[in-house]
Amino acid sequence: MAQKAVIRFEHVSKSFTSKKMNVNAVRNVSLEIQKGEIFGIIGFSGAGKSTLIRCMNLLERPTDGNVFFQGVNLCEVNNQKLREARQKMGMIFQQFNLLEQRNVWENICYPLEIAGVEKKERKQRIEELLTLVDLTEKAKAYPSQLSGGQKQRVAIARALATDPEVILCDEATSALDPITTKSILDLLKKINETRGVTIVIITHEMKVAEQVCDRVGVMNQGELVELGEVREIFLHPQSDTAKKMILFGGGIRYEEGGGTT
Ligand SMILES: Nc1ncnc2c1ncn2[C@@H]1O[C@H](COP(=O)(O)OP(=O)(O)O)[C@@H](O)[C@H]1O
Ligand SMILES: [Mg+2]
Repeated sequence: MAQKAVIRFEHVSKSFTSKKMNVNAVRNVSLEIQKGEIFGIIGFSGAGKSTLIRCMNLLERPTDGNVFFQGVNLCEVNNQKLREARQKMGMIFQQFNLLEQRNVWENICYPLEIAGVEKKERKQRIEELLTLVDLTEKAKAYPSQLSGGQKQRVAIARALATDPEVILCDEATSALDPITTKSILDLLKKINETRGVTIVIITHEMKVAEQVCDRVGVMNQGELVELGEVREIFLHPQSDTAKKMILFGGGIRYEEGGGTT
């Protein structure tokens, strides 16, 4: 039986035009992300990864093509429907984007306030989220008092507050050391497994893709040059970009017939 696509791109292109130049950041990308999977998008800096992920919730409106979320064409809906769709897609970033003048509790509370959730329910949800991300003790701390890993945990809790279907992660671990990276990836995996949240991970680090992704798409100069199961791409990379990323990205090497070294 065919799996259900939660996000579907149909010939999506995005170009940025100014008087001086025209950049084709995303070129004719078609792909499907299935419900419940962890999907990676890898590529070197400037490949168009951030632009592509921002097209998923229409933070960038494609210049061409269509973006479907749960079967609905986001390029055709009104602003109200677009807002509703966006609430079902949480987002986390490399630089965390927390509100510095609000403490941890208040940061997580923010999207709940915007969504008009009642005070009592907000309290219950925030407590549950703090437990999930293991930050109960830091509820009253301000972002400046937290480590990078702790900040990203707050951002994850905040992204989960409105109970999204999808979490979009743009280089979410790129500012973190390897051990903290692993703990954040483990947390994302736990959220994926226990809550069934679909996760899209953008990264220029091969190791990140290997650790958590089911499938990956490889981008180069705005194009999707390869798409497949993460293991298969590691064993038999077809594109020059995938080959280079494996060569320069280090990480685990899969051996034919199973096992890793
Ligand atoms: N708002 C923008 N205006 C003009 N050019 C942009 C804008 N955003 C991205 N670009 C250009 O699009 C290309 C892809 O950028 P980006 O999607 O950020 O790549 P990546 O995330 O893979 O590093 C780059 O050449 C970048 O300079
Ligand atoms: Mg980027």
